[in-house]
This record gives sequence, structure tokens and C-alpha cells, in this order.
Amino acid sequence: MKRTFTCGELNEDFLNKEVVLNGWVNKWRDHGGLIFIDLRDRYGVTQVVFNPQTNSEAYEMAKALRSEDVIAVKGKVAARPPEAINPRMASGKIEVHVEKLEILNKAKTTPFEINDQIEISEDIRLKFRYLDLRRPRLQRNLTVRSNVYKIVRNFFYDENFVEIETPFLMKSTPEGARDFLVPSRNFPGRFYALPQSPQTYKQLLMIAGFDRYFQIVKCFRDEDLRRDRQPEFTQIDVEMSFVDENDVIDISSRLIQKLFKEILDYQVQMPIKKMGYRQAFETYGNDKPDLRFGLPIATLNNVFEKSEFKVFRSVIENKGIVAAIVVEAADKFSRKKIDQLTEKAKHFGAKGLAYLIFNDDEFKGSVTKFLTDSEKENLKKELNLKNNSLILIVADTYEKSYSVLGQLRLELGKELDLMDKSKFEFVWIVDFPLLEWNEEQNRYVARHHPFTSPKTDQLELLTTHPERALARAYDLVVNGNEIAGGSIRIHRRDLQEKMFDVLKISKQEAEAKFGFLLQALEYGAPPHGGIAFGLDRLVMLLTGSESIRDVIAFPKTSSALSLMDGAPSEVSEEQLAELHIKIR
Ligand code: AMO
Ligand code: AMP
Repeated sequence: MKRTFTCGELNEDFLNKEVVLNGWVNKWRDHGGLIFIDLRDRYGVTQVVFNPQTNSEAYEMAKALRSEDVIAVKGKVAARPPEAINPRMASGKIEVHVEKLEILNKAKTTPFEINDQIEISEDIRLKFRYLDLRRPRLQRNLTVRSNVYKIVRNFFYDENFVEIETPFLMKSTPEGARDFLVPSRNFPGRFYALPQSPQTYKQLLMIAGFDRYFQIVKCFRDEDLRRDRQPEFTQIDVEMSFVDENDVIDISSRLIQKLFKEILDYQVQMPIKKMGYRQAFETYGNDKPDLRFGLPIATLNNVFEKSEFKVFRSVIENKGIVAAIVVEAADKFSRKKIDQLTEKAKHFGAKGLAYLIFNDDEFKGSVTKFLTDSEKENLKKELNLKNNSLILIVADTYEKSYSVLGQLRLELGKELDLMDKSKFEFVWIVDFPLLEWNEEQNRYVARHHPFTSPKTDQLELLTTHPERALARAYDLVVNGNEIAGGSIRIHRRDLQEKMFDVLKISKQEAEAKFGFLLQALEYGAPPHGGIAFGLDRLVMLLTGSESIRDVIAFPKTSSALSLMDGAPSEVSEEQLAELHIKIR
């Protein structure tokens, strides 16, 4: 019995029609002589009814049906009695009176029920992922993901981009994350690497004259995983020739606007605002600020320059930062609560958390005794203090003070429920530093990647003060998530070599690792730049999902295991021998 309709199609327009439905038993109920089954497929749920009067054989068979059995039913569409109408179901006004039942496959009792209300460990869900994926929420998430592919492709085709695939087996050039390696059978001791991104390939495509390239592509990074990271993830990868920052930002903003409009009917206000990296860090404590709520960080070095509190004074003397956030409704914070915040601050790396409570023009709290009258006045002015305010202060290095307060800010935002869940606050972060100092390696490393161009009027700085040079890079951030990042690239060999030099990559090493690119830059490389969107993160936001794993069909656990098939797994001696590999 092949289906003539899906379980999501039938309604009162089809009354009395003879239909065949195929699907899974979603719910089974025996109501005094009648058996009701909710039959489910990807498209929806339809109620089917077995009546011994209509077909006693089918009725007897239906008694033995259980959840997740796969069946085919033939019958007539009938109106439900008024009291049985279910307005929440698209097919809620009808049911199918079954004349014939065929069991296509019995199902064992599933390890969990197939619905969205289940509360079971993610490990079990991932082990039985094909059952987990039957649940409506995951079906919806992957359908949205599929729509995203379609909208993205249409958008870029309409904008005259060319979709080009790049290799998965490439040369290992780790710079940033760790590479996944693939041993070569033909060349003992040699390895391919899986791409961390198609970065060098897309630059070569610009040199090849393709002008506008995009690809929806898997990327592989052997790095520590978090809530929003997977070892293999998907990028919407983009590169363009003869462009500057604003061209890339413009087309990316329009893509985002289209996605949010078409998927959520949400209007993204254009132009999306921009914020300098420094401002972001000094106001929100990180480079991906969640702008759905306030609680900005304020720098108080001016106020505490001559403080009697030794900690504050010496931090400032040592070029550190004393900074604070102000929270309203101080009376909601018990002593215990404040102690907990202090513990959190220490966990984030602070040495302590000083606090003040301002009320009735008076200060109380851990550092009140050190405050002079003029400091009090300055604090009131600087922080624009209102009654009943709690002031949380950290004194430490520039990095520490802002980043600890930034993390506290996010905690408080969650606890005080300050984040409007219906809002999407977009911001482009620009003017990133080009480099950052790596303590372990005792050298500068590229903040973005080594192909990112410094600001063209700052090339001198590469020699004199590399740490001050800014990059022609930009990140797109929404609600505290970095969903895209890119830059204008270096397109001249001399500058690329200079960059490797600053990164302490020797001439030989640069030649060995990136010789092909350096060479290509000599044969007429156009100015170019691009961006890559984290597609999984984007779909996470578009579906309101808490975890990146909920928008990927077959994700890995946070320790990079695939619980369903057990990857990574051991392989046979023969396989290893063929690859010239010995396990130590
Ligand atoms: P970047 O490394 O910033 O840039 O990556 C671009 C975007 O990809 C997403 N992303 C991830 N998503 C899930 N799991 C991960 N492990 C993961 N790592 C990154 C983020 C990020 O913004 N080639 C450059 C882009 C360019 O310069 O054009 C690149 O890969 O959302
Ligand atoms: P103490 O004089 O050590 O009792 O510290 C007074 C207050 O200052 C306590 O609340 C400490 O938590 C706090 N404190 C100590 N070190 C720092 C720091 N580096 N930044 C902010 N507050 C601090």
C-alpha cells in the first residue's frame, strides 16, 4: 500500500476521500472498543481510527501496534465529532477510518519516547541519533538548516558569485588550531591535512580571476570544544576581488538581513552598527559583546589614581586598570550573593572583587573606608550613581580587569534576566589588533590569520611597534556570538614576507609551508578580501537552539566522539601497515 497523501496534508477539504497513509505510530489509545492512532511522518500527524465494525481483522491487528511501528493504512477521511476536534493540529478536524492495515515493520521499544518533552541524557540521544532526529524539534532545526543552504545559494548566485569546491586533502599548514592529519599510503611518512578553512584556496581562486567565490564547506579543527564549537563544522565561505572592508561588510549584512527576514520574518535594521575592538573590550570585556542589555564597564583610573587603598593605587601605577560595573537594585544582593560574585570573579582570574553600595548619598561596602570625599564625588559623577546601586570593582592588568568584569556582566545579565530573548543585536567589530603576543611561543601570532592585511597607513608600525598595528579585519557578532569573521588580505609578496618575518616564521619555513602562495602572489594577484560565516552557529540562532549539536545531524560529543558509530576507532594491523604507521 503506497501512500497517496502524507500525514500533514489531510483536512476537511478531503472528507469522504479514500486515502492511503504511511508512517510511524506516534501514539496508541484504546477507547472502549475503538483504537486511535496518531500516525506521524515528517509532514505532520493524522489521527487514524480502527473500528471492529469496519474491519475486524484490521482492528485485531491494531491492538498489537506499539509506538514507532511503521504501518500503512487505507481508509476514508471523516469529520471528527465536535467534541473530538483538536484546534492545535492541522488535521485536527478530521480522522481516517481505517479499512485496511499493513504492518511494514515492527519496532522494538525505543530507549526514549519520540517527543520534545523528553528529559534524558544527551549521550543516549546521540547514541540513538536516528531516533533523536525523529523528534519534531530536530526535524524542524534541520529543515531550517536546509532552507538556509537554499537562501544562501540563491543570494550568492543572484549576486554573480561562482560556487567552487576546494580540496579536503591538503597540505598541513597549522597556524591557529591543530590540523587533523590523513596518512598517505603512496608516500610513507607523509600526511595530508584536512582544511581548517579554505583560506589559501580561496585566495588562489582570486588570483585565478574568479572575482567572486562562495562555497558552503566543511572545515576541520582539532581543538578543544565548547558549547558552540565542533571539530568539523560548516562555513559559508566567501572571497571577492577589488574590494575593501565596506564591500564585504555590505554584502554580508545583506545576506544576514535576507536570512533573518525569510526564516524568522525578523527585520534586521540596516546599516548594522560598527564598534571598534578597543571600545568593545573596554566596555563589554570581550570582542563579541552581547548588546541586548546594558551594564557597561566603566574605567575608574581617574578616580583612584591617588587612592589610599594600596591595591588600587599600585595597580594604576603599574599601568593596570581599575574598572567597575554598576547594578541597580543593590538591596536584592545579600552579603552571601556578593560573596558568590566574588568567588566567580576569582574563578574568572581576578585577585578580588571590591564592592560599594550607594544609597541615600552614602557609600557602604568593602572599600568604603579608603574613600576620600573627593573620590566619592568623582565616583558619583563618573558612574552617574542613583540610589540603591551596587558597584562591583576589579583592579588588575588591562586584560584581566576588563575580561573578568565582562564575564561577570554576562552572568549578571542572565541572573537578572536582562537579555530580551526576542531581540537580535547585531554589531560589526572592526579595528582589531593585527597581532597578539604569545607567551608560550615567545613571539607574535596573527590574531585572525597571517594573510590578513594590516591597515595600509600603518605598515611602518610592523617594524617599529608591531603590537600597535591594526588589521583590516571584521567580525559579525549577534547576541554575544561571533557568527562571521573575515578580512582584506595581503596581496603582495613583499608584504606577506614581511608579515611572516614579524611572526618569526623563517624564510625557509615560509617557503616550505606557504611557498605556493608566495609564488602565486607574484603573478598578478588582485587586491582581495572575504569572510566566512559559521553556518552552524547561524542556524543555532535562527532556531533558538542552546547547543550547536542541535542543528547538526550527526554531531560529536564535547570530547569529539561519535557515540553512534564509535568513531574514532581502532583499525586493523593491515590498514596500519599499508599506511606505514606503527602505534606507540
Ligand atoms: P574563522 O576562523 O573566524 O575564519 O571562522 C569563521 C567562522 O566560523 C565559525 N567557527 C566555528 N563554528 C563551529 N565550530 C568551530 N570549531 C568553529 N570555528 C569557527 C565562527 C567563525 O566566525 N578563513 C577565515 C575566514 C576569512 O578570513 O575569510 C576563517 O576560517 O562562526
Ligand atoms: P582587603 O583589604 O584585602 O580585605 O581587601 C578589601 C576588598 O578589596 C575585598 O573586598 C577584596 O575582595 C577586594 N580586593 C582585593 N584585591 C582586589 C583587586 N585586585 N581588585 C578588586 N578588588 C580587590
